[in-house]
Amino acid sequence: MHHPTVCAVAVALLSALPGAQAGLYTKKSPVLQVDAKDYDRLINKSNYTSVVEFYAPWCGHCQNLKPAYEKAAKNLEGLANVAAVNCDDDANKPLCGKMGVQGFPTLKIVRPKKGGGKPTVQDYQGQRTASAIVDAVVQHINNYVVKVEDKSLDKFLADKEKPKAILFTEKGTTSTLLKSIAIDFADVITIGQVRNKETKAVETFGIEKFPTLVLLPGGDAPHIVYDGEMKKEPMVEFLSQAGQPNPRSPPKNGKKDNETKNSKASDKAKTASTKTSSTTAESETNTATQEVPVIVETALPIPSINSPEKLIKECLTEKSHTCVLAFTPSSEDEKARRALESLSQLAFKHAQSKRNLFPFYEVPKSNEGAASLLKALDLIGDVEVVAINARRGWWRHYDAADFGHESIESWIDAIRMSEGVKKKLPEGIVAIAVEEPSSASPEASSEAPDSTEAANDEEATQVTPEASGDAASESTESESTQAADPTAEPETAHDEL
Ligand SMILES: *[C@@H]1O[C@H](CO)[C@@H](O)[C@H](O)[C@H]1NC(C)=O
Ligand SMILES: *[C@@H]1O[C@H](CO)[C@@H](O)[C@H](O)[C@H]1NC(C)=O
Ligand SMILES: *[C@@H]1O[C@H](CO)[C@@H](O)[C@H](O)[C@H]1NC(C)=O
Repeated sequence: MHHPTVCAVAVALLSALPGAQAGLYTKKSPVLQVDAKDYDRLINKSNYTSVVEFYAPWCGHCQNLKPAYEKAAKNLEGLANVAAVNCDDDANKPLCGKMGVQGFPTLKIVRPKKGGGKPTVQDYQGQRTASAIVDAVVQHINNYVVKVEDKSLDKFLADKEKPKAILFTEKGTTSTLLKSIAIDFADVITIGQVRNKETKAVETFGIEKFPTLVLLPGGDAPHIVYDGEMKKEPMVEFLSQAGQPNPRSPPKNGKKDNETKNSKASDKAKTASTKTSSTTAESETNTATQEVPVIVETALPIPSINSPEKLIKECLTEKSHTCVLAFTPSSEDEKARRALESLSQLAFKHAQSKRNLFPFYEVPKSNEGAASLLKALDLIGDVEVVAINARRGWWRHYDAADFGHESIESWIDAIRMSEGVKKKLPEGIVAIAVEEPSSASPEASSEAPDSTEAANDEEATQVTPEASGDAASESTESESTQAADPTAEPETAHDEL
């Protein structure tokens, strides 16, 4: 994972270097060239996931990366931002320093937070090939696509006014293309996905072939069936009759102008103009300097479960597959930090090698569901890590003291191989949680994804490589010696539905 090839030049040294050279990428390059002034707008505030290369033009490894990086940019066109920052340019040095760049090239993946807020930044340390970069970026694209089943169809259709679109497909996984369309139309058109086996939904819309895209423009307007190619551009154009897509990044002066569609091209054109929204950019920077950016090296963030309902939904229904839960104290805790770090490194490692892995969650002990579950399992440590399979009625306790990477990894491996001690879940674990006053909501369990869909749940896909598809949560059962479920649908072609 570590590249001895990185030009090991400290950023401090950089400032001593004489005047900046021209950047590596030409104007015509598919790589989006970003400077310190534009970074916040083009990367931080974009709804797209970005990969950002921090480079210096004189660095040989940066020059070597260029063809692969440009190829990745072409492949990810319309799906993600592939950007580069020239750290040799004096104006960009503070940005490169703040981003923790210590050698060239440094690649970071910036994932927008759903619903706005600070994006998550993490180092990319995989291979420097176009396909490896593309695969890593694709795994970090946010998913706003709603999986609709027969039983949730009415709910999905309930808000009659809001435009919606549904892709009917044979696949259980959501394609990158559809995810990107859902990002384009976030808050404008709700995008759903229905699998062919949902017969009621399929019949309601008279769908005869898959994939088929249907637009429900809203109000009393009848639905419209798309008959063009399953390619992004014509699909977006088709959907635009019900509402304009969001810009790729906010417009330059905060004014709503024409540059909604191809802001990349217009951004480039605008680099000539030096007038920028420096006031907003600067005030952002000032407040941001106090907070350290969330940099998780070679790790995937571990989603947190903050309510008893969610705990039940994800892990404690009778259909729930294996979940790994890390119970953490509310205050800062060294052990908790180590446990989460080990888990997130492991999640990353599995994602990189596209191996199936069950989901990991952090459960703060302040969550009342956590307290009753820990009590039922008779666990009293400050930090506890357990694996639970409610469907099969077993649980396992991580009982080493150190929470280090290796020890967590061998514990997880044992679960994957079905080795080691399984304990029987005490009677009524599921019931205990359900009977809690604050979690008595019956929907909490009835809404749980059905077993074949469990892995497609959004939180799960954060720590599960998409390539594993539906099979992800299955892999953990006793038959985990298999390499991959043959029914898994690998998502290698990023423009296929
Ligand atoms: C972008 O966001 C990061 C946090 O992820 C923040 O530290 C940084 O200051 C922002 N960059 C700019 C140029 O505003
Ligand atoms: C990002 O998505 C939100 C909806 O989640 C939308 O309101 C906003 O306009 C989008 N921003 C950009 C820059 O497209
Ligand atoms: C928008 O585009 C039209 C034509 O493409 C142009 O006439 C108009 O001035 C543009 N408006 C803005 C605000 O740029």
